[in-house]
This record gives sequence, structure tokens and C-alpha cells, in this order.
Amino acid sequence: MSTFPGTRLRRLRRTGALRSLVRETRLDVSDLVYPLFVGPESMPNEELPALGRFSVDDLAREAEELLGLGISSVILFGIPEEKDDEGSGAYAAEGIVQRALRALRERYPDLVLITDVCLCEYTSHGHCGVIEDGEVANDATLELLSRTAVSHAEAGADVVAPSDMMDGRVAALRATLDEGGFTDTPIVSYAAKYASAFYGPFREAAESSPSFGDRRGYQMDPANVREALRECELDVAEGADVLMVKPALPNLDVLRAVRDRFDLPVAAYNVSGEYAMVKAAAARGWMDEQQAAMESLTAIKRAGADFVVTYWAKELAGWL
Ligand code: PBG
Repeated sequence: MSTFPGTRLRRLRRTGALRSLVRETRLDVSDLVYPLFVGPESMPNEELPALGRFSVDDLAREAEELLGLGISSVILFGIPEEKDDEGSGAYAAEGIVQRALRALRERYPDLVLITDVCLCEYTSHGHCGVIEDGEVANDATLELLSRTAVSHAEAGADVVAPSDMMDGRVAALRATLDEGGFTDTPIVSYAAKYASAFYGPFREAAESSPSFGDRRGYQMDPANVREALRECELDVAEGADVLMVKPALPNLDVLRAVRDRFDLPVAAYNVSGEYAMVKAAAARGWMDEQQAAMESLTAIKRAGADFVVTYWAKELAGWL
């Protein structure tokens, strides 16, 4: 093996064109999924623009803009007018996400409509399932999640993405979707979803903070990677079509391990806190947002993600 001075790795870094020629990982707008928040009224967010809300009426204009930028996939989150203990707004035929789906489906047949399937935005207590004896009841929640997924499919969702972390939810959703005739609706499972502080800005935007306790009884302990592989293994066995790791940046090793172990497409969620940290630092002049965002997303892809859910999708489309 030739070493210095025969070998000089800087030779291929000398110009932008040379660097581009040997670049191993590339970002492409077609790899990005943009989160969209839909609520009773539009509510722009000055500091974190991608966490702003749209009314059903305003959503179409946003969809139009996204398609114009080359972004062809969105994931929808709903903020209902009213919440209750069972999160009934999540599976109501006239629920906020169901109405948004119907508004977008006909007009934008090429837009991939993914829905987040969870109860936390819809429950008065903010947990991702129903409460029995002070705890989130796994099996009783499965039925409500299944109803939610089917109601999304009926309203026009292309893909459903359960993010609740109940055991057995992928199998439950698959069975109910199939019974309802939605055999072709894929499930993107938030398979390795950690109990994370990085969801903070999302919970504020979606009004989904738990009113008591936390989510550590169902979301994963950030200390564990073997357990993440078990989660993935079970989700594959239950019929998941895509495995997702979330949050992305603190868990690039998990992403790599999932990529190496499974042949399913792997997704990563570059969550609200990852976006907010950079936005906040950039606002103080401490780092360059575009560079930091592109470095983050490139690292997520390099670690093994086939596609990335990111609040930067819109801005990135402009930068690329
Ligand atoms: C719903 C859900 C959450 C996120 C995606 N789906 C919040 C949570 O689990 O508390 C977080 C996304 C983000 O922070 O960007 N369960």
C-alpha cells in the first residue's frame, strides 16, 4: 500500500468539481418527506416555519408549492378542535386529517400522502393511547389505532405510519387494513422510536405533551440498540413495509445497524428538536443553517436512510 508522499488524499479535494465526482452520498429532493400540520386555523410559526399550521383550506396552496419545488411526499399531523380521553378525533370520519386528505387527494394525485397514526394529538391527557389504571393500555389502544389507520386510508392516505410504540400495532393495522380492502396501503413503522427530548418543539406545535408522566413506558430507552433491532424484527414479522428510526442524529448507529440487518427500505425522522437547535444557533449567528442542515441530512443518508422526514425539505429544495 502506497503511503505519503505517494498517496495524498487531498488531491481529490482540491476543487468542487473533483469533490463532486467522488462524493459517496447525495441529497435529492425525492428522498425527502415534509411534515404538514393541519388544524382548525392556519397559524404561522415565525421562528420554526416548518412547524406552522394550515387550515384545510390553506393546505392545498402549500401542497401546490411543495409539488412545484419537487417535493412529492408529505406526512400529515392533525390538531383537532377538541380532545377527549379516547382520542376520538383521530378516527372520526370528519376528523381534521381525514378532511385534509379528502381535500388533497383529488387535486394532487401525484402527492404521496403519508399519515402519522397516533392518538397523542387527540387525547385530553396527551398520551399515545387510552389510559387504564393510570397507564397507557396497550391492547385497548390497538383497536383505536387500527380504526385511525382505516379511516385515513378511506379518506385517501397512500401510506400510514404508526408512531405510538404500542406492541403489536403493525400486525393490528395490517389485519384491519386488509379486512377493509386496503391491501395495497403500505405501513411505514416508526419501529425504533426513542423517548426523546428532541420532540419538544413538535409537542408545542401539535399540542401533544402528556399532561402527566412521560412516554418512557412505551417509547424506547435511548440507551438501547439491540432492543431497537428486536423492535424492527417484530415489525418486519408483523408486516411492516418500511422501518423508521427516530430521532435521526442521536441514533445514527441505530440507523446503520438497522440498514445492515434488514433489506426493507429504511427511513429516518430528522425531528423537530434537531431542526430547532440549528435554527436557534443560526439565529444567534453561531452557525450557518444551510451548511448545518445539509451536513445533518447527508450524515443521515450516509448512515443508511433511504428517505428522510425533515422540516428542512422545503428550504433544501431551494438550496439543491
Ligand atoms: C406522535 C409523534 C411525535 C412525533 C412524531 N409523531 C411526538 C411524540 O412522540 O411525542 C415527533 C416529531 C418531531 O419531534 O419532529 N406520537
